[in-house]
Amino acid sequence: KKKITTLQLKKMKQNGEKISVLTAYDYTMAKIIDGAEIDAIIVGDSASNTMIGNETTLPISLDQMINYATSVVNGAKRALIIVDMPFGTVSGDPLKSLQAAIRMMRESGADAIKIEGGSEIKEDIKKIIDAGIPVMVHLGLMPQSINKYGTYGVRGKDKEEADKLLEDCLLMEQLGAFGLLLEKIPSTLGEEISNKVSIPTIGIGAGSGTDGQVLVIQDVMGMNKDFSPKFLRRYADLHSVMTEATKNFINDVKNKNFPNEQESY
Ligand code: KIV
Ligand code: NA
Repeated sequence: KKKITTLQLKKMKQNGEKISVLTAYDYTMAKIIDGAEIDAIIVGDSASNTMIGNETTLPISLDQMINYATSVVNGAKRALIIVDMPFGTVSGDPLKSLQAAIRMMRESGADAIKIEGGSEIKEDIKKIIDAGIPVMVHLGLMPQSINKYGTYGVRGKDKEEADKLLEDCLLMEQLGAFGLLLEKIPSTLGEEISNKVSIPTIGIGAGSGTDGQVLVIQDVMGMNKDFSPKFLRRYADLHSVMTEATKNFINDVKNKNFPNEQESY
């Protein structure tokens, strides 16, 4: 199967074909969703929450993200693989930021990186793009800035913040970003931004007007019961499936039903 490129995502936008994206952090999951022909996979720093169990995305390191991305690269042969630059790696020192981005691309084998933040780090973003690294810019709710916001609530609700967000999106397009990720903003704003930029927008809690949609894999598969934001749709109940399977295994071991003769040497 042929690899999906950033150029193809742009063509999908031009043709009005919506872009499907999920997160993944390991080889097995990546192989499954790649086999189902997802368009792109984001190796999100949400791994800090879903894989490590941290409260926020702040503690995860560049080395940890490189490891998760390597696993996904090994599992997915078709989808475009975009990996998050973690907190602190792109933050106002363009040369340092470029060095971190180069390490990520070289050591993980991912196709592109995603960076949280707009005009405040425009020099960093420009330097990275100018070095030939494809960048998706993550705006709206930025979980790496949770300590600044103090809330995971919807962003861009007032005119001032909405205007700044639109301005940032236009600037990022101008700098050469290949895509935008818009998290938790009003659907009218998500649609307006998507209409005003020529690069693809991928939304999470940003309404139906964005060019694509992304969700976190554990949420989509129903693996965690304690996270139910309005924007989430669960497509499976793996929590129940896995709990049931575990209980059946325990029972069979306790009752000496496993292994049987056919399962023994
Ligand atoms: O870390 C993450 O999972 C993300 C999603 C919004 C894709 O950034
Ligand atoms: Na992220």
